[in-house]
Amino acid sequence: MLFPYLKPEIPKPEQWVHHLQVSYQARYFSNFGPLAQKLEEDVSKNYLVEGYAGVLCSSNTSGLLAALNAIDVYGKKVILPDFTFAATPQAIFAAGATPVICDIDERVWELDPESVEKALHAHTDVAAIIHVRPFGLVRDISATRELSVKYQIPLIVDAAAGLGRTDSDATFGSDTGEIEVFSMHATKVFAIGEGGFVAAPEPMVGPIKRALNFGFDRDRTYGDGFNGKIDEFRCAIGLTTLDLIDDWIDVRTRHADFYETFFSRFNTLTRPVEPGNTPWAQYPVLFDRDVDNSMIGVFADKGIEIKKYYWPGVKRAYTGRRPIDAMPIPVSESLQNRFACFPVYSDFTPELGSMLKQRLEGALEVVLGS
Ligand SMILES: Cc1ncc(COP(=O)(O)O)c(C=O)c1O
Repeated sequence: MLFPYLKPEIPKPEQWVHHLQVSYQARYFSNFGPLAQKLEEDVSKNYLVEGYAGVLCSSNTSGLLAALNAIDVYGKKVILPDFTFAATPQAIFAAGATPVICDIDERVWELDPESVEKALHAHTDVAAIIHVRPFGLVRDISATRELSVKYQIPLIVDAAAGLGRTDSDATFGSDTGEIEVFSMHATKVFAIGEGGFVAAPEPMVGPIKRALNFGFDRDRTYGDGFNGKIDEFRCAIGLTTLDLIDDWIDVRTRHADFYETFFSRFNTLTRPVEPGNTPWAQYPVLFDRDVDNSMIGVFADKGIEIKKYYWPGVKRAYTGRRPIDAMPIPVSESLQNRFACFPVYSDFTPELGSMLKQRLEGALEVVLGS
């Protein structure tokens, strides 16, 4: 495939192995070691507002679970959008809570405040709201923040693919105190293999760290928790990634701009509005009909691999036996089959762009019949 969906960008060992000298000298390879501490400090400095701090963890999923453990949602309910990846409901189940699925807004594809407010009236035992930033788009989430303040319910933001841009206004966190969780999985832009990062108001960091460390207290008694720690090897990769990521994202933004211009002439295709300071993990396009296997095949024939996300939504996708509540989700049901995500590269060039343009035009001629 000339244009594979993913070209994961992880620094080569010779670029990051030198960081490990510190860990070998200290003979400290996990359990909040020296490189984990350094990377936490550096990532926090780059991305978080004042008064926030960050904890590295083994994945976004474990970060979500630790945040839910720290808030203590056991036996209660947690609101989430239908339009999200399996990790979001799985973390809620693991925390011993029941998901309450809400609908998404048609324009931004994120949690619909009206649906959330109805859910809060229908369920009096909601202990947390999870707002998902789909595709890693970094949008204004003030409507959900306002609900979190109005109803005094903690807010967690699942920003799995959102970590990357270090511009000054790309900082995460706010004075309403949401916890923001990121993935550092190999498929993300800030990629270290498996990993995650939880950003929280400083007083919440201790309880989140405790949950990631088996729930241990100082006296060796323990509350809810598990092993969600990260090792020093992946932190070494992360320290090098931090040096390279701005250049990658400059290129990725040019690639996304290319799509923005290219797709703007098709009035049946919807592009992401207000993408914010996203690192552009992928470029999502909403079609006016289902993205089915034959459409995926047409793009594949032209050498372009596209992927559907987040399909099916949680309500349709979950086949386990745990209880789950759902509000009406007409918007999610109408949109979730119609997204196609296009690849975004950190090594995009104008030459690659002209080749891609030609192939996209060929595929869309078949798909749209124009
Ligand atoms: C919205 C969302 N949440 C969570 C995850 C899972 O992240 P991880 O693999 O780091 O647990 C993903 C992965 O793509 C995601 O898209």
